[in-house]
Amino acid sequence: MAALKRLVDRLAAERCLPDADMLALLACGDGEVLSHLFARARAAREAVYGRDVYIRGLIEFTNFCKNDCLYCGIRRSNARACRYRLTEEEILLCAEAGYRMGFRTVVLQGGEDPWFTDERLCRIVRALKAARPDRAVTLSVGERSRESYQKLFDAGADRYLLRHETATKAHYEALHPPGLSFDRRMQCLADLRAIGYQVGCGFMVGSPWQTPADIARDLAFIRRFEPEMVGIGPFIPHRDTPLGAFPAGTVEMTCKLLAIIRLLLPNALLPATTALATLDPRGCEKGMLAGANVVMPNLSPPDAREKYALYEGKASAAGETADALSDLKKRMENIGYRVTIARGDHRSFPDGEAALTRKKGEHDPCTT
Ligand code: 5AD
Repeated sequence: MAALKRLVDRLAAERCLPDADMLALLACGDGEVLSHLFARARAAREAVYGRDVYIRGLIEFTNFCKNDCLYCGIRRSNARACRYRLTEEEILLCAEAGYRMGFRTVVLQGGEDPWFTDERLCRIVRALKAARPDRAVTLSVGERSRESYQKLFDAGADRYLLRHETATKAHYEALHPPGLSFDRRMQCLADLRAIGYQVGCGFMVGSPWQTPADIARDLAFIRRFEPEMVGIGPFIPHRDTPLGAFPAGTVEMTCKLLAIIRLLLPNALLPATTALATLDPRGCEKGMLAGANVVMPNLSPPDAREKYALYEGKASAAGETADALSDLKKRMENIGYRVTIARGDHRSFPDGEAALTRKKGEHDPCTT
């Protein structure tokens, strides 16, 4: 076990590990090693962001989707999904209610719904920025053209979440129908980065056919791409999808990966995701104690929340009401953290402007 603890120390000091060592750490279930890993991850997080927990108000504004991802409950061919789309007015009202509660970031998340043309989405982004100029707008609306991403950025969007899903091409192809392409996904991430967004990638933990080698490739990709945000959560099967009979990912593996990602990218904004909270009532706390520093409570209207079922039993993270938010605050205080209403930009985006001058990948201390 001493050897594995030393690997953790090496990861913390060098921000990388050779592949074989990373695989050894991924295979390790020893409690003492994991406690050591989590402690290192918390120290890394606290050195950069202190004990602050950033909150993002999530608005799931449409569950129409033109895609057919094999794992996802809102895939096009799920005829049992009850489809909805919020109006512009409803979106603005949810965001405003969130702002009054203290949310300085709104995340617009939806399926790939062609009804939301560039024109419509840009209008919404502009209206959100006009109403509250100090509010960050994050988009999570899937793959679009570079021109579309540019228009949305010009309309005022600050950040974009697009999970890469898996950095292994063959695995990507197993999880997605033929029309979706791994290369296109990666191109979207490159476009978002080049435009100047704060970019989030990420993957599901324990997705069908995922191997430790796949996870090691995800970690290597994350380290290389240096996203500002990384969203990971356990895979949770949805019965109305082709992958509905596969087992769920685990809370333990998700927390271990949160901690490793924190050590790879100490500056990253790392949410304890809804999927984690769905598998474990203390998932949010466990994620924080493994190095996460963001929570994304749901601001969608209750009936929309119910219908936005990517997987079964989806928890709705506390936050939709003032009471739920104060409950979240207490829970964070109980583990020594503090919910803050700051916008919570990435370290290298002090005012959302630094993107233009930043250079990536320089002075890389690691040769592996
Ligand atoms: N289990 C867990 N996460 C899922 N997602 C989609 N379906 C599932 C599922 N069954 C994740 C994907 C997607 C994000 C919005 O939700 O990673 O990028």
